[in-house]
Amino acid sequence: MKLLEPLDINGMVLPNRVMAPAMVTRLADEEGWVTQEISDRYVRYAEGGVGLIVVEAMAIHHSNSGPLLRISDDKFVPGLADMVRRIHDTSDSMVVPQIIHFMKISKSGWRQTVDMLSDEDIEAIIGQFGDAVRRAREAGFDGAEIHSAHAYTLASFMSRRNTRTDRYGGDSLEGRLHVIGRVMEDVRRKVGRDFPVGVRFLADEFIKGGNTASDTKLIALRLAQLGFDYLSLSVGGKLEDAEHIPGQVPHPYTGYSGERCMPGSLFPPGLHVDLVSDIKAFLMEKGYDLPVAAAGKLSTPAVAEKALVDGKCDFIGIARGLLADPDWVKKVRAGRDDQLIACDYCNVCKALDGAHKKVVCFLWPKGEIQAPMIDPNAGALSWGEGRGGLTVTLDGGKAKLRWDKVEGAVRYEVYRADDDGAVQIEDALKITNWTDGNILGGIRYHYYVRACGASGQVSPPSNSVVIEPAIPVYQAAREYSQTA
Ligand SMILES: Cc1cc2nc3c(=O)[nH]c(=O)nc-3n(C[C@H](O)[C@H](O)[C@H](O)COP(=O)(O)O)c2cc1C
Repeated sequence: MKLLEPLDINGMVLPNRVMAPAMVTRLADEEGWVTQEISDRYVRYAEGGVGLIVVEAMAIHHSNSGPLLRISDDKFVPGLADMVRRIHDTSDSMVVPQIIHFMKISKSGWRQTVDMLSDEDIEAIIGQFGDAVRRAREAGFDGAEIHSAHAYTLASFMSRRNTRTDRYGGDSLEGRLHVIGRVMEDVRRKVGRDFPVGVRFLADEFIKGGNTASDTKLIALRLAQLGFDYLSLSVGGKLEDAEHIPGQVPHPYTGYSGERCMPGSLFPPGLHVDLVSDIKAFLMEKGYDLPVAAAGKLSTPAVAEKALVDGKCDFIGIARGLLADPDWVKKVRAGRDDQLIACDYCNVCKALDGAHKKVVCFLWPKGEIQAPMIDPNAGALSWGEGRGGLTVTLDGGKAKLRWDKVEGAVRYEVYRADDDGAVQIEDALKITNWTDGNILGGIRYHYYVRACGASGQVSPPSNSVVIEPAIPVYQAAREYSQTA
């Protein structure tokens, strides 16, 4: 399996091609120190055998932002070093920090934009990035990732929405890329060429007047020319289209661009892979073959594997899927895909992050701060004689499913395949019925349900049921289509 092949990134050898991309946990303390809980969260990924762990965005400057990790001072190095040591002692997972600068924003909705930064501010930011990467090296990280995505400072310089008119100006692509060039210059001066440094940026901003694929392939080329060792592509997550609830700080993941960044259950799997693939193809055409990562609903092993086998990207970012099941790699390696705890993209984690609350997964047992460890002695879940008694009935254009309760189950997962195609999880819920309002006449739908226990154990699939709603008759339309 290509997913399980190693990948060498400037000497940092990932044991497999699965990356946990940066995902804020809100488990740091208010001052930005590493806590036991945050360290445990990342060790858990190492236990699961994740190839590359990107530790959530940590700030290079001193600005209030709730429980967010800091790498803004040498005093933070020992705490970070401790966490890195625990990860390295656990498995051969590689670990890098994501390094961020963000601008000020207030509850009134006011926010600082790049045109408000003075030359001195910009010089300070450039130096802070270099210092932070140096600290990452001192803390024992295997490399570092510069955050130039979403609503944050470096991405805002790169954006077509940058309104500066000086040498960092938005009116030319070179102007928009000047800060990242200066940052990389400072980083390399401080850590040398042999320390792997990647960058996360946006394949598309998904905002009006923002960067699209025609800009971002050129941005990717410049990042490759600057000597970044890997590119990790995200999309959207901008403040330009964020909702502003009076009295609350606007959150960059609330508008359409935010929806694209952390796509919910209604979006198709692997929805950003083709954007990434176009960028990768362009780089190859220009003679650059650096590793490129995609993210966005790639937690189905077959979908992730296909993206790699088709050469669309070189490694796979799985954020919410690995939060749900940090043992993803272990299970896929053991051929136990049927035991994966499948993320249903309900985005409870995203909502917790937005509310500055500890980020946990809705699929974990209530009250848990970390994913449950698989308990080999936990009793197997069984459907019994009736294999679940799953039934489906058609009611007003909706498919209504019901099934039997299973002793010891804490939730049920509903799976669906359309016209015998790929199976996809549709929902995870605690009750024993579910309604599918998203079916179209003329297509055949198969369903089955799995029961899940508190210790990560999963039942075999229930009996499966099929429904094939008829195409409604719209007489006039039909007559027209037959005679046209
Ligand atoms: C709660 C939460 C926090 C996130 N924090 C970060 C972050 O710190 N840095 C970042 O680049 N992306 C962040 N992301 C985006 C993810 O890395 C990822 O790109 C996105 O969730 C899509 O991947 P997925 O479908 O595998 O979850 C976050 C996503 C979520 C849900």
